[in-house]
Amino acid sequence: MKNGPDGSLVEPLILAAGGRDGDLLRLVDEHGLEAITDVLAAEVASRCEPPALQQDVPVGLRVTQGGRTIEHVLTVSSGGVDSRRGPADAAPVHITTDVLCLARSVYGPPSFDGAATRQVTVRPERVTPAADQPSEGRPAREFGIGSRALRGADSPNPAALAAQAVSSAMAGRDRDLGDLALRFGSDKWGVWHWYTQHYDRHFASLRHEPVRVLEIGIGGYYDPAAGGGSLRMWKNYFSRGIVHGLDIYDKSGLDELRLHTFVGSQNDAGFLRDLAEQHGPFDIVIDDGSHVNEHILASFDTLLPHVRPGGWYVIEDIQTSYWPQYGGTSGAQAGPGTSIGLLKQLIDGLEHQEANHPRDFSPSYTDRHVVGLHLYHNLAFIQKGDNNEGTIPPWVKRTPLNYFYPAQNG
Ligand SMILES: C[S@@+](CC[C@H](N)C(=O)[O-])C[C@H]1O[C@@H](n2cnc3c(N)ncnc32)[C@H](O)[C@@H]1O
Repeated sequence: MKNGPDGSLVEPLILAAGGRDGDLLRLVDEHGLEAITDVLAAEVASRCEPPALQQDVPVGLRVTQGGRTIEHVLTVSSGGVDSRRGPADAAPVHITTDVLCLARSVYGPPSFDGAATRQVTVRPERVTPAADQPSEGRPAREFGIGSRALRGADSPNPAALAAQAVSSAMAGRDRDLGDLALRFGSDKWGVWHWYTQHYDRHFASLRHEPVRVLEIGIGGYYDPAAGGGSLRMWKNYFSRGIVHGLDIYDKSGLDELRLHTFVGSQNDAGFLRDLAEQHGPFDIVIDDGSHVNEHILASFDTLLPHVRPGGWYVIEDIQTSYWPQYGGTSGAQAGPGTSIGLLKQLIDGLEHQEANHPRDFSPSYTDRHVVGLHLYHNLAFIQKGDNNEGTIPPWVKRTPLNYFYPAQNG
């Protein structure tokens, strides 16, 4: 029996969950109830916030459709939640749901939380809290039905905690991006940087859209098992998004459903182009890689054409514009060839229709496609679009100022 989720099903499932029942049913018919529930159960497991438990608690997930039931066991522990297909009879918690409702709760629009369509049963007497388990010279404590069963003597019942963790993951309630950064170990909030508030301001409206995100720089440097904090944070934040990360070090051990890693340098235009042609266009590209100015400019040149209109290109840590060891300028003003130099150039480009250019001037790609710039301490958001609103009528430029302000200019 195949037990892992088929990653290629995720994108079609996300799109069908935002559509009509018929779209979802066709997908279930085509790929089978087992394959679809493998994806949904793995997604729920990855969204669970692990409760503080001193023991593993199995939660049975029963997914039904047309008289059939597929069972999964989600093993909830304080270290994480693991999902596998299999019988769940002995589990102290059971959650039963129809497959269409589960798909909509997990990947559909946020207006559908599916709570009314799920049946949760908790049998607390099937779990003995670790504190009450028998130890030498002490018998196991009775743990019956009643208020004591739900709370125990000193702490909530483990079954109730596990049931709450899984139900809450299925309800898809939004968690604060700063909380997610801390939970998954991204430095975008809390130690060196205070970026998540700005990200949330610009990305909140995309949170439940089927976006494609590419982040340069996975983290953890040469340690293959380390890093991935921001990719996991984005996966959790963008509930229907596909998240790609690239790094000069191989991070393939971090790959999971909706999260893909690639090895290569952000300074290698050919590699970036191939990756973008295969996995783009992207709604969002974030550069949190080497922070070497030459690399930042090279990646921007290559990847901006692969950002979809209306999408965003974000550059983190632009302070290296002033750090000579990163190719920055040592003086008070960042020069050309730095990320801040690029941003200054983009401001002139944004206004290219207003500036006094020679007749044979032809606007560059960025002049024509950057429509917004939002700058914060060490962080820049660049919005892509069609910068072609047209200019202010030419007669306004030629009209003497005292025509508009006679009182001031007499
Ligand atoms: C600051 S960490 C990324 C942190 C991660 N984005 C986060 O927020 O959790 C920078 C990463 O960029 C990678 N890196 C360095 N030079 C690179 C290059 N030329 N191309 C791609 N990645 C690079 C490093 O290996 C490191 O893992």
